[in-house]
Amino acid sequence: MQNLIDIKGVTHAYKTKHGPLPVLDNLNLAVPEGEFAAVVGPSGCGKSTLTRLVAGLMKPDRGEVWLHGELVKSPRKTVGMAFQNPVMLEWRTILENVILPLEIVAPTMPKAQKEARAVALLEMVGLKGFETKRPSELSGGMRQRASLCRAIVHKPDVLIMDEPFGALDNFTREDLWQTMRDLRAKEPFTCVLITHDLRESVFLGDQVIVLSGRPAHTQYVLNVDLPADRTIDILYEPKAVEMLHLLRDQIRIAQGRDGDIH
Ligand SMILES: Nc1ncnc2c1ncn2[C@@H]1O[C@H](COP(=O)(O)OP(=O)(O)OP(=O)(O)O)[C@@H](O)[C@H]1O
Ligand SMILES: [Mg+2]
Repeated sequence: MQNLIDIKGVTHAYKTKHGPLPVLDNLNLAVPEGEFAAVVGPSGCGKSTLTRLVAGLMKPDRGEVWLHGELVKSPRKTVGMAFQNPVMLEWRTILENVILPLEIVAPTMPKAQKEARAVALLEMVGLKGFETKRPSELSGGMRQRASLCRAIVHKPDVLIMDEPFGALDNFTREDLWQTMRDLRAKEPFTCVLITHDLRESVFLGDQVIVLSGRPAHTQYVLNVDLPADRTIDILYEPKAVEMLHLLRDQIRIAQGRDGDIH
């Protein structure tokens, strides 16, 4: 299977007043087409930087980022992005917000076709009937559902999410995890999720990539060998609990709190 994302030996430092700040150090990472990669790592280790490199918003000092067999050199329209606080245009309805990427990447597509695609996605995430509402009329969880639809409406090569569920309460977050899995079952897409939540990484991920402390490299890759049609209950099963313990240990090592390593 071809890797949709191939990050090869990426090294990057930010230029600051106090000199260069090394953030990524010879980082390698591969995500096969259709897979869900969850990325975890200590706070400030360089996770958001990594998402900017994959989206082509920044170029690394050294190394290469490949997307769909092409070297990424500039911002890519074929990357969908979702963040913790979805930015929605208040003067547009939910439907109009969701079709926005189509207006940019497919300007000649008939309006009815754009709307039909958005309506179908909104229905898949449980927002049928909210098409004509304004963003402020929706709860945080509903806005995040709508923003997921917007991020994939134009069928991007990859969806990159940077802590998209971080601001939600626990139950809403778990509902969204399930929605995310249901959505991918109906409409498969490759995904990179940055998260601080180990349960989220195991529930959603096909693989969990643990980054080391800054400057980050890939410290550990866990293959999440759990059934594809998982529900939230799976997190209480011994195999998942074992994975969570293992990831917790890896995070401790990444944070430099393991006596054997640092
Ligand atoms: N534009 C920038 N210029 C200078 N330094 C930056 C810039 N962006 C980020 N940094 C620094 O680079 C390091 C990595 O930042 P980044 O946002 O990638 O980390 P992160 O892993 O996403 O953190 P968090 O877990 O808090 O979201 C941090 O020390 C941050 O202060
Ligand atoms: Mg970040």
